[in-house]
Amino acid sequence: MIPIDPSAMPQVHLVSHPLVQHKLTLMRKKDASTNSFRRLLGELSSLMAYEVFRDMATQDVVIETPLETMTAQMIDGKKLVFVSILRAGNGILDGVLSVVPGARVGHIGLYRDPKTLQPVEYYFKMPKNMEERDVVVVDPMLATGNSAVAAVTRLKQLNPKSIKFLCLLTCPEGINAMHRAHPDVPIFTAAIDRELNDHGYILPGLGDAGDRIFGTQ
Ligand code: URA
Repeated sequence: MIPIDPSAMPQVHLVSHPLVQHKLTLMRKKDASTNSFRRLLGELSSLMAYEVFRDMATQDVVIETPLETMTAQMIDGKKLVFVSILRAGNGILDGVLSVVPGARVGHIGLYRDPKTLQPVEYYFKMPKNMEERDVVVVDPMLATGNSAVAAVTRLKQLNPKSIKFLCLLTCPEGINAMHRAHPDVPIFTAAIDRELNDHGYILPGLGDAGDRIFGTQ
């Protein structure tokens, strides 16, 4: 087990809300069905979105209530992009889109080269005008950090206004890797688990998130 680099901690937002923790516990259980795992992931993702967007910019708009005119606040959801790291990231999309339905969605596919063990991009599709947009990269598990780091490195080439990373679970190895490569990217997570095992799985964790979302175990 490696300790977390203390300088990484200001960039880590641990969402400790009891509802989030309760749902995460249900998801960790090995006998949770595919159906309930997917449903809980959706619910948890919407709850976590509230925390991710706590500092989101709003604009004043003038509206008519049934009684009078007032100035009220609105967000511009279209300026937001959720970027899903395939394939497990797709399990987070429905939940976050339920709270920001106007957001755009990008996808990035990476596989691990068996010789170099480095991530190789096989798919990359983003909305236009990324330099005007705030990006939230989503992937349920920040484990070794290799895919997350590669995804953020690639996205930075498009100069978005900001990048945040939303996961469900991480561990010291994942936080340190992300912080070393991208100290400017805040990480939102529901838990920081103990460690990675030799196969790159988080312990105690919840197993293979992609398999559990899609029932491919
Ligand atoms: N990816 C997963 O799905 N689970 C882990 O524990 C680590 C990476």
